[in-house]
Amino acid sequence: MLPAISVNHLTKFYRRFKALEDVSLAVEPGEFFGFLGPNGAGKTTTINVVTGLANYQSGEVRVFGHDVTREYRLTRAAIGLVPQEFNFDPFLSVEQILVFEAGYFGIPSREAKMRAGELLEFFSLASKRTEGYKKLSGGMKRRLLIARALMHRPKILILDEPTAGVDLELRYLLWDFLKKLNREGTTILLTTHYIEEAERLCGRIGVIHQGKIVAVDSTAALIRKMGGDRMEFYLKNDVTKVFAGVSSVPFTVESSGRKISFKAGEGAIPAVLKILQGHGVEVEQIDVRRPTLEDAFLKLIGKKGDGGA
Ligand SMILES: Nc1ncnc2c1ncn2[C@@H]1O[C@H](COP(=O)(O)OP(=O)(O)O)[C@@H](O)[C@H]1O
Ligand SMILES: [Mg+2]
Repeated sequence: MLPAISVNHLTKFYRRFKALEDVSLAVEPGEFFGFLGPNGAGKTTTINVVTGLANYQSGEVRVFGHDVTREYRLTRAAIGLVPQEFNFDPFLSVEQILVFEAGYFGIPSREAKMRAGELLEFFSLASKRTEGYKKLSGGMKRRLLIARALMHRPKILILDEPTAGVDLELRYLLWDFLKKLNREGTTILLTTHYIEEAERLCGRIGVIHQGKIVAVDSTAALIRKMGGDRMEFYLKNDVTKVFAGVSSVPFTVESSGRKISFKAGEGAIPAVLKILQGHGVEVEQIDVRRPTLEDAFLKLIGKKGDGGA
């Protein structure tokens, strides 16, 4: 099966500035793919290339096997785009925004009006049908962006930071909606700099940093790459001196001296317990820290994580 989106060795400059360098990734049909990276990493630029909004210097970008430059109309029709910024026509009503959008994709106006009505109802915007978009709240504008992207019932939905600055309630609502849409067969590519969002929604994640892909993997594997769990022991006594000469287990003693942490596995837990017992130190509490995607991310982009402390 052809990938829904394939990007191969894509390099893009803005004048002299190299925004993307040798970016390669493939999104399979039906996938929920997360594109994760800090601000300025190149997420929006990549999306702009995929949707034919930006040119590029080298590489190959295809949507269901079709070249996004040579077969722009075909590839663009397969994609619903929810852009990062609001870009509505200020002279149109909410309903017109949807109906005009459908026009770009050759949908007859009767059909367009019907779909617009359904989507406005679904996104709780029906009462704003005749208003200009400026009268909408931030959350309503965000919902309108999504409704507009769905007017031509695209096979692929690309969302560029759809929940940035969105309140929690709407964020959860959107997450549920996107999960359902994906279950029903829509391929989704979502960019975010919220790790939790990628972790919750995406089966696979591509991480981009400074224009380069630093990892593409399943969400679970990305977390696994961080290595095993970390143990945290909270102690009754100060153990700074106790562990001063120990080298068998790589551990960290907190400045208070009453908490130590170390990587679980390889007999580390019994070894630590034995040392503690030998010095008559009592353990007050034990915590297990799962590495999070945040840890993996910081590791991947070469910053030092806090090890989950
Ligand atoms: N139109 C533009 N002209 C010049 N530089 C740009 C333009 N758009 C983006 N950039 C630069 O390209 C880099 C990637 O930007 P962008 O793709 O928007 O990142 P992200 O979406 O991951 O935050 C940034 O350094 C940004 O400043
Ligand atoms: Mg962006």
